[in-house]
Amino acid sequence: MKRILIIGASSGMGRELALLYARQGDIVGVTGRRIELLEQLRNAFPRNIYYSEHDIGGIRNGEVFHDIVQRMGGLDVLIISAGVGFENNEFNWELEEQTIGVNVVGFGEMVNIGYRYFQQQRSGHIVGISSVAGIRGIDSCPAYSASKAFISNYLEAIRKKAKKEKCTIVVTDIIPGFVNTRMAKGNGLFWVASVEKAAYQIARAIEKKCTIAYITKRWRFVAYILKCLPRTIYDRI
Ligand SMILES: NC(=O)c1ccc[n+]([C@@H]2O[C@H](COP(=O)([O-])OP(=O)(O)OC[C@H]3O[C@@H](n4cnc5c(N)ncnc54)[C@H](OP(=O)(O)O)[C@@H]3O)[C@@H](O)[C@H]2O)c1
Repeated sequence: MKRILIIGASSGMGRELALLYARQGDIVGVTGRRIELLEQLRNAFPRNIYYSEHDIGGIRNGEVFHDIVQRMGGLDVLIISAGVGFENNEFNWELEEQTIGVNVVGFGEMVNIGYRYFQQQRSGHIVGISSVAGIRGIDSCPAYSASKAFISNYLEAIRKKAKKEKCTIVVTDIIPGFVNTRMAKGNGLFWVASVEKAAYQIARAIEKKCTIAYITKRWRFVAYILKCLPRTIYDRI
């Protein structure tokens, strides 16, 4: 039995992971702003699920983390699934700022809090969800694509830091393509995975302590092409 805290579990992949872990008897902490959805999860698994109302873009990250972890009786795995993303062709600063506040500032603070907790405990596993959208800058969602690049690089840095400090903290970067959640909207979507399939593959990657995992696996191919594409060509598509 493991103790797993999922930040951003009221819907989508976070919710599906919470259900998967609760079904197998793990202790699961779930957070998010839509408290009624978290209550539904807890009511489905009253013995396994603990919840907290939480805005990762706010000022209570440390308080929420320590309170729920205490109620859960400890922590083995921290999964940060919370994220926002907007099509922002109008380049509206409010949307850009919101994205940076949640996906960069909130994410970074949660990793920092989790790292310190696991450092003291001398073990733990931090999991972040970046995106194939973070591989190159995307003109229709500048802050989103940049925030996902931040997540991947931040996790890589933290993994290196843990290794140098000889901390047994595992760090996993989950890199989805498209997954059928409320976030995956718009035209031109392909290879859209069901949320169940995505959660299953994420849980497998966590179990295997993977460094990075593409969800689904075929997105590794797209990522490779995107990385290789010369800037002169990328700028034109
Ligand atoms: N779906 C895709 O195709 C796709 C692809 C690549 C990466 N991702 C990433 O996967 C992660 C999960 O997204 P999803 O696809 O499962 O979409 P989702 O259903 O919209 O889930 C997003 C979760 O993040 C939480 N969240 C958002 N803002 C928050 C805030 N300020 N404070 C706390 N929690 C917050 C939401 O909870 P509340 O609204 O209740 O706060 C919700 O539980 C995101 O980081 C997303 O960028 C998704």
